[in-house]
Amino acid sequence: MTSQPQAQPQPYATPDPALGRAVKAADRAHVFHSWSAQAAIDPLAVAGAEGSYFWDYEGKRYLDFTSGLVFTNIGYQHPKVVAAIQEQAAKMTTFAPAFAVEARSEAARLIAERTPGDLDKIFFTNAGADAVEHAIRMARLHTGRPKVLSAYRSYHGGTQQAVNLTGDPRRWPSDSGTAGVVHFWAPFLYRSRFYARTEEEECARALEHLETTITFEGPGTIAAVILETIPGTAGIMVPPPGYLAGVREICDRHGIVFVLDEVMAGFGRTGEWFAADLFGVVPDLMTFAKGVNSGYVPLGGVAISPEIADTFATRPYPGGLTYSGHPLACAAAVATINVMREEGIVENAKRLGETVLGPALAELAERHPSVGEVRGTGMFWALDLIRDTETHEPLVPYNASGSSNAPMLAFTAAAKKHGLWPFVNMNRTHIVPPLNITEEDLKEGLSALDTALNTTDAHMAG
Ligand SMILES: Cc1ncc(COP(=O)(O)O)c(C=O)c1O
Repeated sequence: MTSQPQAQPQPYATPDPALGRAVKAADRAHVFHSWSAQAAIDPLAVAGAEGSYFWDYEGKRYLDFTSGLVFTNIGYQHPKVVAAIQEQAAKMTTFAPAFAVEARSEAARLIAERTPGDLDKIFFTNAGADAVEHAIRMARLHTGRPKVLSAYRSYHGGTQQAVNLTGDPRRWPSDSGTAGVVHFWAPFLYRSRFYARTEEEECARALEHLETTITFEGPGTIAAVILETIPGTAGIMVPPPGYLAGVREICDRHGIVFVLDEVMAGFGRTGEWFAADLFGVVPDLMTFAKGVNSGYVPLGGVAISPEIADTFATRPYPGGLTYSGHPLACAAAVATINVMREEGIVENAKRLGETVLGPALAELAERHPSVGEVRGTGMFWALDLIRDTETHEPLVPYNASGSSNAPMLAFTAAAKKHGLWPFVNMNRTHIVPPLNITEEDLKEGLSALDTALNTTDAHMAG
């Protein structure tokens, strides 16, 4: 990996608690936050960020093991990408989507060059959820069929169709059962729904379950199967060898569009440009967002196969966005992809995953009985925290809140106290730092994680 240009020094050494209080007060008075009971939250006022760190107005610095929401794949404030955004703002801040614009054309070319197989046309959206919305609309129009199959253990976004595809409990308040979605179980050996004891059994039984679901739903009613290549928010379950190829084969046999959602797993997170590359599968549609420009300016999209693109060659595609392919966002994507290539950032994720992070997490699991399973690849890992080694009973119940979630809150507090900002979801912590984190910083974070896991060990049964 070549060294990064030096960023401008940031003012974390000069705390400004009064400004921090004002920022917090205005937030509390006027900002309505996502997924939250507004009176129950206490957002940290953030003064600045650089590389793998951010800091508050008191001058306390945190190592970010979350990459924001798993999107700052090149870390915060990469100087080359910041400069490219500034240059694009000076040249052409915005332009309507019906025109050919340099930044948009170049972003599409660079993305298409990297997407698996023949996915060569790019429809740009503002983020991940609307990419999913459009992928499903394309699949329905292409097949003329209404229904979509998605996994119970999944997250596909917060808009109406995307949240209904989602498996996790965030779907429930928006699910009236009318979204044309049927859920199924994807493979996950550690908590097998199929009484499997090996990856081979889990794979074969999960494929049989999908095939049976399709048979009983009626193959001619199903437009698409959508899967996260490696489910992210739901727990980073790397599918067993052969599973995704098996889904591809089932979809082909029934004329069903295969959609892979790479909003979280794409753009180097797994140590490959796309997670699909790990498994040698090519979907018909692939969604992306987040890492495409490290989240510096909102951008997402759908990569489209020639066959589906042909459907809309003479028939208009009935969908669009005012900001489809926004020049500022696309310029950030061009700069991000070029920086990732020049600095070997995808290769760095693979190397660190194989030689540092994977082995270190396995070693933590040996010393901490509450770590039930370590799973992942590249810079995309989860620790499944348990309270019983025999039964794998999760440290906290599914969708826990209040006092039943106390062990995870204590873990989070301990990590923060030691300068680590952890990603926490249900009974898991995910280790998803920027892909260009240094080995030294990674080890610093692992040491804080080690300390914080003492709190979860304290809850082991017996
Ligand atoms: C796999 C996946 N799909 C879709 C989304 C939704 O993306 P966004 O929040 O950008 O709309 C997410 C967000 O975390 C995601 O992880």
